Amino acid sequence: MQAYLIKNLKDYEGQQVTLQGWASNRRDSKGIYFIILRDGTGWCQCVVSAESVSEEVFNECKKITTETSIIITGTVTKDEKQMGGFEVQATDVQIIAVADEYPVSKKEHGVDFLMDNRHLWLRSQRQWAIMKIRNQIIFSIHQFFQKEGFIQMDAPLFTGNACEGTSNLFETDFYGDTAYLSQSGQLYGEAMAFAMGKIYTFGPTFRAEKSKTRRHLSEFWMIEPEMVFFDIFQNMDLIEGFLRAVVSDVLTNCKAELAMVGRDTTVLEQIVKPFPRLSYDEAVRIIKGEQDVNGQNSIKSLEDELKQVEAKMEEINKEIAEREEKIKTPGMKKGEIGFNQAKIDKLKQELKDLEEVTRNIPGWLNSARNFEYGNDFGGSDETVLTRLFDVPVMVYNWPHEVKAFYLKRDPENSKFARGVDVLAPEGYGEIVGGGERETDTDLLIEKIKEHQLPMEAFEWYLDLRRYGSVPHAGFGLGLERLVTWICKLPHVRESIPFPRMYGRLLP
Ligand code: 4AD
Ligand code: MG
Repeated sequence: MQAYLIKNLKDYEGQQVTLQGWASNRRDSKGIYFIILRDGTGWCQCVVSAESVSEEVFNECKKITTETSIIITGTVTKDEKQMGGFEVQATDVQIIAVADEYPVSKKEHGVDFLMDNRHLWLRSQRQWAIMKIRNQIIFSIHQFFQKEGFIQMDAPLFTGNACEGTSNLFETDFYGDTAYLSQSGQLYGEAMAFAMGKIYTFGPTFRAEKSKTRRHLSEFWMIEPEMVFFDIFQNMDLIEGFLRAVVSDVLTNCKAELAMVGRDTTVLEQIVKPFPRLSYDEAVRIIKGEQDVNGQNSIKSLEDELKQVEAKMEEINKEIAEREEKIKTPGMKKGEIGFNQAKIDKLKQELKDLEEVTRNIPGWLNSARNFEYGNDFGGSDETVLTRLFDVPVMVYNWPHEVKAFYLKRDPENSKFARGVDVLAPEGYGEIVGGGERETDTDLLIEKIKEHQLPMEAFEWYLDLRRYGSVPHAGFGLGLERLVTWICKLPHVRESIPFPRMYGRLLP
C-alpha cells in the first residue's frame, strides 16, 4: 500500500489514493458520513456512503469519534468548495484506534484550558498554521546566514557568567558549582567570531522573569550573529536585510498559513520599505508626543482611538439590547431567534475585544505622558512608539547606564552606548537587541565592576580584547517574538510548541 499525503491530492485527481491520519470531524447526513481527515500536511473531506463501501465498513464508521486514527482509501475529486480544493470518495475505511471523547472542541475554550491541553491543541488548524510559519522562519534564518557566509555555532547552555544582567538567571548545580542556564550565547559568539569571522548561534536561552506579559517566555530561542570588523551602522544594515529576507520568504511561501491565522498581510508587505532609524533622543520625543510621525501624534492618536472605541462599544451595546428585546417578542420563529442569538453572541465577543483595548490604552497613555528621559523602554513605551509605524523601527544610541555592560560607548558622546533595539510595528515592540561591542579593556572592566559581575568569570572574555582586539558587532533575534508579530498573535505563548513561562511547566 502506497501512502499519499493530503497536500499532494491535486496531483491525483480522478485516481485512487490511500490517506492515513486522524478524523478531525465526522458528521452524518442522510446515510452518508462526512469525515474531515487530517494527516499533518493538510485537511480534506472524505465522503463515505453505504453504496461505495462494504456494509461492514459502513457500520464501523459510526465508531469514528473526533481524533480517531484511520486509513481511508478512495478516489480524488475536485471540489472548490472544500478546504484544499479536493475531496475523497471513500471505497474503504480502516480504524486504527478509536479516540476517547476529545477535550478540545471547536467551541470557545479558555486560554488556561487550551494551555493545559497544549499537546492536543497543537492539532488544531490555527496552531498547525503557526507552527508551519515558525518552521519557514527557522529555515529562512539559516538560509540567509549560510548564503552570507556565516558559520553556525552552538554556544554552551551551562554558563559560569551572566551576559544580560543578574536579575533573571536560572541557577543550577553543576557538580557542586553554581551554573546558570544561558541567557544569551553572545559572549561565546564573540570568541568564535574572532576565530571564524562571521558566526551565528541558534539556540535556546533562559530568563527567569516572574512577569506575565504577552511577550515574555522563560525559555525562548535566540539567533545571535556576531561579525568582526563591523560597526553599529553595518550591523543595522544587516538586521534590516535579514528581517526583510525572512518576512519576504514567509509572504511568498506561507500564503495559506497566514490566511489560516487570519493575518492581514498589508503591513507585512511594507517590509520592502526602509526601516526608520531613530536615535534614543528622537524616539523619546515621539513617545512623549513632542514630535509627530507622518502627521501622527502618539498621545493624540491614542486619545482618538480611545474615543472611537468607546463610541463603537456604545453602538454595540445598543444593538445587543435591541436584539435581546426582539427575541422576547411573542410568536417569534425559532430560526429567527437562533439568528439573533448568534448575532448577539458575536457582538458580545466583539465587545470583549474592545474592552481589552479600552483597558490597555489608558496605561499606554500614562506611559507616554510620564516617560522619563534616560530610562529604558518598557513594553508600553514600545507599543506607543511602534503603533505609529508599519515597518520595524530601529532605536540606537541608548543611555549607557540602562544597557548591557558589553556595549561600546559612543565615541561622539560618552553618555550613550552603541546599542540598537529593533521594534516590530503594530504595537509589538522589541524583537531584536544588539549593538557594537566595547573594545576598550579599561571601560569594560569598569562596567563589569559597575554591574557587580564576578571579574574572574570574565577573564576569558577580556582576553578577546587583549589578543588582537577588533571592532565587532552583533545582535540577537528572539524567534518567538518574530513569529508572534508575523502571525499577529495576541500572546507569545502560541508561537512555540510547548511554552515555558512563569506559572507554566506542563505539558
Ligand atoms: O535584548 P536581549 O536581552 O539581547 C541579548 O541577549 C543580546 N546578548 C543579543 C546580542 O546582541 N547578541 O535579547 C535579544 C532578543 C530580544 O530582542 C527579544 O526578541 C528576545 O531576545 N527576548 C525574549 N523573547 C521572549 N521572552 C523573553 N523573556 C525574552 N527576552 C529577550
Ligand atoms: Mg533587549
